[in-house]
Amino acid sequence: MKRIGSILIVLILILIINGWKITAQEPVELTVLTSKPGAEIQPVMWGVFFEDINFAADGGVYAELIKNRSFEFTLPMTGWRLLTRQNGAGRMIPTFYSPSRPSNPHFMRAYIDPAVGTFAFTNEGFRGMGIKKDEQYNFSVSARLSEDSDIRMTVELMTSEGKSICKADLPGFSGTWKKYQLSFKASETALKAQMRIVLTGKGSIDLDMISMFPADTWKGRPNGLRRDIVEMIAALKPGFIRFPGGCIVEGREIANRYQWKNTVAPPEDRKVIMNRWNVEIENRQAPDYFQSFGLGFYEYFQLAEDIGAEPLPILNCGMSCQFNAAEVIPINELDQYVQDALDLIEFANGEITTKWGKLRTDMGHPEKFNLRYIGVGNEQWEEQYIERYRIFEKAIKAQHPEIKIVSGSGPYSSGRYFDYAWSELRKLNPDLIDEHYYMPPEWFLNNATRYDKYDRQGIKVFAGEYAVHGKEGVEPESRNSWWSALCEAAFMTGLERNADVVNMASYAPLLAHVDAWQWRPDLIWFDNLTTIGTPNYYVQKAFSNYKGTRIIPVLSAGKPLTGQDGLYASSTIDMKSGKLYIKIVNTSDKKRPVTLSLGALPYVKDGVKETLTSENPGDFNSISNPKLIYPVLMPVKIAGKKINSETEPLSVNVFLIDFKIR
Ligand code: AHR
Repeated sequence: MKRIGSILIVLILILIINGWKITAQEPVELTVLTSKPGAEIQPVMWGVFFEDINFAADGGVYAELIKNRSFEFTLPMTGWRLLTRQNGAGRMIPTFYSPSRPSNPHFMRAYIDPAVGTFAFTNEGFRGMGIKKDEQYNFSVSARLSEDSDIRMTVELMTSEGKSICKADLPGFSGTWKKYQLSFKASETALKAQMRIVLTGKGSIDLDMISMFPADTWKGRPNGLRRDIVEMIAALKPGFIRFPGGCIVEGREIANRYQWKNTVAPPEDRKVIMNRWNVEIENRQAPDYFQSFGLGFYEYFQLAEDIGAEPLPILNCGMSCQFNAAEVIPINELDQYVQDALDLIEFANGEITTKWGKLRTDMGHPEKFNLRYIGVGNEQWEEQYIERYRIFEKAIKAQHPEIKIVSGSGPYSSGRYFDYAWSELRKLNPDLIDEHYYMPPEWFLNNATRYDKYDRQGIKVFAGEYAVHGKEGVEPESRNSWWSALCEAAFMTGLERNADVVNMASYAPLLAHVDAWQWRPDLIWFDNLTTIGTPNYYVQKAFSNYKGTRIIPVLSAGKPLTGQDGLYASSTIDMKSGKLYIKIVNTSDKKRPVTLSLGALPYVKDGVKETLTSENPGDFNSISNPKLIYPVLMPVKIAGKKINSETEPLSVNVFLIDFKIR
């Protein structure tokens, strides 16, 4: 019996040893050449792309809660509803100011039915209004009482079930236009509240700019931006913010293009126009999507300054969207467009004695905004673009050689338009060429080496819009899958390894409202109360927060890791703060042990590993489960300047190593 027992133990041991041999993997040996720092990483390397798409501005980061506050939508009653059954009776008649007010030509005349003496109407907000318990809301209205009228106003916030959660009165009005204000606090939180206005008395009253903002905005600025959304953007520590788009720069027609000068008047005089995304996407139409420009160019510059990002405005180059009307301004009429670009530089950087510098000062910012980059055109193509770009470049470089110009290579990552743009732009002097790729996951995996082949001395690349576009899913957020984020991370190691060629990069688009999106995937999703980061967001955050200042080569068997066994790697160093960052993306379904040799680093302290992973490639974050995919930090031991660690299947890993500064 004893013998049989011993044989069994030996057999079990053999099985364990053989089993271990079958399943265990040799660690991937990675040499991190810390003694050979390569090219510089530009401070602007990782930025954000902001466009008013998916209710990103109105209904999103611009905290205004009233939709169609100035009755300037094509149908002036959009967003408003008369309550004539239980809530009195009356009429609202869209009325015109004298032609002297072309920027905001309509107001609303509200009549109370004399037989009833009360009349109510509501505003639905942007897919409802997000109202928070105990928070203060600031209401305002421009009003003028008609002759022989006597009217009082009650303003109320109601839940979607009709419960009143906030109520206050505006006591009296005069016969001349005046702005009236009140503040109140909500007794409950509501995701989709509405505002009800009740008029009591007799006669009629003229109303305009009916507005309501939370008091708690980003930096507490009155009538400012939604704090939670800006905080999410700021946490990325973006090197730049590209604005205002995107196709919105171009307009479906030239008349509907983005004109920055129309966005720097007082808010009530910023001419409202249709948002080009309201009818653009056939199965995602949003006829109630307009641009109030409450978030205008001054606010964009201010936001950039607030979050420490370089402003990167993209301007219309005299062409409307070539996928839509494709209108082109004749060359001999292009002056106004070029002048808009020059004036924008003056608005941002001009002395306070200049026309546009004075406007900036009058708006509250005598200091310069230090604009250093400007983009000419968005996704334009063929010779119409090059002819116009050339004129812009000449004018801007002549007056402002200090400004870096971003040109475009069209909407596609390769092909006729792309090749033509590159070959023509090489004959000119843009500082950067903007490349866009909305491509399937495999494209991103295969293109981690895309920039290895680019001319090191050539024009620098701005990867200005990119995102993995996979398959349509059921949930609004579902296309921001873990797999999409993982493939972007693999690709981004290629951008980082080639930071001498790729100087700037931004995922696109940035924001989307869960109930009002036109385009997905998007980096950050929000509803009326909450904001969530997608897995793609946490990938962007890892690259941007752990940026470094120089490239460090990471080699496996003498070569960069660009997909061997599903692994991708890049590394950067920051000699000033004493940080080494090693990023390893494991796109395989196997755990991979890794050994990292850190070479000649001076005294190395222990480090940590930040891991982003999820078992299922189809997983995604949602409003109800916002942190399903979320970075986790673990200490790593460093022995003899070596790290023995592992990477989980389907994971993005950043090794953060502190070392002693010389
Ligand atoms: O990011 C959404 C759109 O994609 C942008 O407006 C446009 O530039 C691109 O086609």
